[in-house]
Amino acid sequence: MRKIYIFDTTLRDGEQSPGVNLNTQEKVEIAQQLEKLAVDRIEAGFPAASPGDLAAVNAVAKAVRNATVIGLARSRHQDIDAAREALKDAQDPCLHLFLATSPIHRQHKLRMDKQQVLETAEAAIKYARKYFPKVEFSPEDAGRTELDFLCEVTEMAIRAGATVVNIPDTVGYMTPLEFGNIFKTLRENVPGIEKIQLSAHCHDDLGLATANALAAIMNGADQIEGTINGIGERAGNTSLEEVALALETRQHLFQAKTGLVLTEIARTSRLVSRLTGMVVPGNKAIVGANAFAHESGIHQDGMLKEKSTYEIISPETIGLKESKLVLGKHSGRHAFREKLIDLGYELSEEQVNLAFAKFKELADKKKDVSDEDIRALIEEKLVAIPEAFTLETIQVSYGNQSVPTATVRLQSLEGTLHEEAALGNGSVDAIYNAIDKATGEKVELDDYSIKSVTHGKDALGEVHVVLLQDGISVSGRGVSTDILEASARAYVDAVNRLIDKRKSGAGRRDNVSLI
Ligand code: KIV
Ligand code: ZN
Repeated sequence: MRKIYIFDTTLRDGEQSPGVNLNTQEKVEIAQQLEKLAVDRIEAGFPAASPGDLAAVNAVAKAVRNATVIGLARSRHQDIDAAREALKDAQDPCLHLFLATSPIHRQHKLRMDKQQVLETAEAAIKYARKYFPKVEFSPEDAGRTELDFLCEVTEMAIRAGATVVNIPDTVGYMTPLEFGNIFKTLRENVPGIEKIQLSAHCHDDLGLATANALAAIMNGADQIEGTINGIGERAGNTSLEEVALALETRQHLFQAKTGLVLTEIARTSRLVSRLTGMVVPGNKAIVGANAFAHESGIHQDGMLKEKSTYEIISPETIGLKESKLVLGKHSGRHAFREKLIDLGYELSEEQVNLAFAKFKELADKKKDVSDEDIRALIEEKLVAIPEAFTLETIQVSYGNQSVPTATVRLQSLEGTLHEEAALGNGSVDAIYNAIDKATGEKVELDDYSIKSVTHGKDALGEVHVVLLQDGISVSGRGVSTDILEASARAYVDAVNRLIDKRKSGAGRRDNVSLI
């Protein structure tokens, strides 16, 4: 079996998804989970984009012990120097350099001819190799680059000292036959190709990212780049969990496998979804809520007779377990702690106490507390951000013939109570207007979504909001059996993140484009 290296770019290309803006703590938490998943390489960000991005890459570099930590840079000294600073504490650092090579990008974006592209990239790779033992070079928009020029660029990159050459289908334009052929051509024609690793980086604009990545593997790619849940620019990147499961399920066909700990996939997917606020569609392959649900009578009958009739992957493979122990209001601290261990949480004593108190509150309102409820409850507050405001009380008056009114009471960090009332177009609008008055923050609600954590009338509601203020975007999440309270919690959570982000100087990018 050939080993396929996994390069995770959830924290860089994934974070380029619209509305996603992870803070440093959240990036570190995801990086630590990626280590549990055993990805080989973690692209932590684009250090030259802003001081906040540089600091976040540095924090990830300090936290990660086993995986290679990578910073992205354009082919210029100032970006390479920013990445040097960001990665100075990494155990195993790597620089990811890129420069566009396709005719469209050369002509319209770079205004460079082929020779200038070759010379600029070569100078950048040579400069980078003075400081980094590992340098990956990406000819951006390789998919639409003339194949003979791509061979020339790859040969130059190898001579200049690149250790990995990555082939990006930047705009998701390729089909599997074409993309596979690029790898075959490079392997057969470029002198010295055996000295480096060849990598594939696909985007999903035509829904072909995973298929293209697999075609690359069949034609000699050593590394696949992608993200958890397939998040990323526009339609996203290759879903790493899809590639890993395709190789696992069709071993005889591919004769290749990743080193991923597959049972960590479900947990990693949930974490990324929660922290980015990007909800995983129910029908998403591998990690969607319906990926293992069998609805039709014929399928259910088949499953009962013999699972392999309709199931090619078992839920246990990705770490989904059927719960044996359902908790309720009579469950004690011991059972609760056992459940946390069973669900894979390693919490401090203080966190367990907090979670237990919230569990008891919920059990009073809900007969059976499911695993999903417990996850939703404790994950709401796992990444501790300083809370400038906490929600104390909320009261709403609503009638279909009257204007909704809300009163909220918030407590600030110094202990001052801020009570305000406001009207609104609807109950949630009234609550948000009252919170705005109480916090004094001028924010714009950019997105609001609500989902139920489990089924039934007493299910927990989970609200996700995205707020904007002066070019900074933050997300917030709130959970409660009451959707108005969940809405208020999510909003206050986002305001707290905004205040934290403003203080730390993160979040605002110096409008750096990828050119
Ligand atoms: O899609 C792309 O081309 C990229 C490069 C920076 C590798 O993300
Ligand atoms: Zn990309």
